[in-house]
Amino acid sequence: AAARADGHMKFGFKPIDIATDYEIHVPEGFDHKVLVRWGDALWTEAKDAYDAQNGVSVDMSDKVFGENTDGMELFEVDGKQLITVNSEYVNPKINLPAASEGTPQTADEVVLLKNLQGVTVMEIADTGNGFEVVLDSAYNRRITHETEMAIAGPLAGHALVQTKADPAGLMVKGTMNNCGSGKTLWDTYLTCEENFNGYFGATGDMPDGEGYTRYGIGGSGRYAYEKFDERYDISKEPNEPHRHGFITEIDPSDPTSTPVKRTALGRFKHENAEMVHAKDGRVVVYMGDDERGEFLYKYVSNGTWEQGAATDGLLDDGVLYAAKFNDDQTGEWLALTPETTGMEIADILCFTRMAASKVGATTMDRPEWVASNPLKVEAYCALTNNKNRGVKPNAGGDDTSVNAVNPRETNNYGQIVRWTPADENHAADGFAWDLYVMAGNPEVYDNIYGGSDNINAGNMFNSPDGMAFSSDGLLWIQTDGNYKNEGDFAGMGNNQMLVGDPESGEIIRFMTVPNGAEVTGLCWSADKKVAFVGVQHPGGSWPDGEGKPRSSVVSVWRQDGAQFG
Ligand code: FEO
Ligand code: CA
Ligand code: CA
Ligand code: CA
Repeated sequence: AAARADGHMKFGFKPIDIATDYEIHVPEGFDHKVLVRWGDALWTEAKDAYDAQNGVSVDMSDKVFGENTDGMELFEVDGKQLITVNSEYVNPKINLPAASEGTPQTADEVVLLKNLQGVTVMEIADTGNGFEVVLDSAYNRRITHETEMAIAGPLAGHALVQTKADPAGLMVKGTMNNCGSGKTLWDTYLTCEENFNGYFGATGDMPDGEGYTRYGIGGSGRYAYEKFDERYDISKEPNEPHRHGFITEIDPSDPTSTPVKRTALGRFKHENAEMVHAKDGRVVVYMGDDERGEFLYKYVSNGTWEQGAATDGLLDDGVLYAAKFNDDQTGEWLALTPETTGMEIADILCFTRMAASKVGATTMDRPEWVASNPLKVEAYCALTNNKNRGVKPNAGGDDTSVNAVNPRETNNYGQIVRWTPADENHAADGFAWDLYVMAGNPEVYDNIYGGSDNINAGNMFNSPDGMAFSSDGLLWIQTDGNYKNEGDFAGMGNNQMLVGDPESGEIIRFMTVPNGAEVTGLCWSADKKVAFVGVQHPGGSWPDGEGKPRSSVVSVWRQDGAQFG
């Protein structure tokens, strides 16, 4: 324990204490600075778009950085550095006039909310005063709930995705609730459509069926879009929700490119998309479905890829699998095919949760990000928490009793599972697994709720969510949990980013974020000297010190200028 308190050579910094304030804290020897905030201009014309009193003006709302930053990736294009970053959702109470009580009252207010979500592509540069957004860069781009994108893969053109506005079922507007991220082997961005269900509502009769209930689609939309835009009204456009909930590919190097929804990767509440190159040359994408009692998936391309080769079909032609974790720490990837599910391929891809239930995949404690170790053939998934574990089945009626990989009833702390594919091949059907860490509170509990052996009073956290590896093989863990610092969560403080050593299991705290915020999204500058970290839904008046709280991306670097990414 003393060695831990002193820090550890492998990590290169001393762990920090918890915080309960409205600031950011990083270790001794590091500095941080805000890179970009909700409402900051991407183009000069939007310099005055944000007002501390009123937020963003509707006419400039697609020319500024969106709200609630989430997954992001860095790309190098023509010697420039671009960050592609998600804006997952909006807080209507801070975006709309107080009188609206958080519900849009006009079509313009709906446009404002639509524009502040989606994806931003922005060039950044080190100005000598740290990194800044390059205003007016030819690469800067906003992708919103109204941007046209193509539907590709087996669902393209299918009756399930045809609407009045798009009878061919080939072109859809918008990517929604963009949560985590991924980067392809060929340097494009993958944005992951998570809680898309919440954007749809019905002003008349809802169509029936498990295809809606299993996904939580129905009732009123969270932003009342359906009152001002028929496309979001399920009683009028019952197929529109079938066109969302995918992995969408964006080419940041071409600001005129059309984003593409990759239906072969299935439809569910996509958290992130971790692409790896299997040893047999196939392309594998690991994906969590963040819902209580839903599943962990992987996609395996039928074709193979090598550096510089064409990528056509790699994300359109393949097999989707759901994970089964056996209690003896072995596991199997169960293929979702017409033979195994009795469903047609279009139904498997549109109603993927139902297909995975049919093959008996393991219900999980909310699979969030998957991260793969660059130094070893293994991957990790954050199972953030699950208050329903052992309490009630998932929306498909699947059993959620405790099992070895989800071992705690009413799991409010979460755990991180790790698996090693058979034959060191990410495309293989079998794997071995273990729990890298079970979060918990050893100060409150001396049972399984105290967490695994690598949890101690100095590194407690709950609800692991974002995860990414640095090139040196360390696992960075971001939390999105209870920050009240009391009761079962006493001693955990604000949400935080920790670093784990896969070999020793040791985990130490690197960063804490303002009270109210979660930490989500992480990438590094091209020289790995600066980390970019997302701070979503902060409380208080962070970072401005007055006015509204502003979700932001923060740069963090070592004062000695050394690499740490
Ligand atoms: Fe958007 Fe599951 O986090
Ligand atoms: Ca998340
Ligand atoms: Ca969240
Ligand atoms: Ca979360």
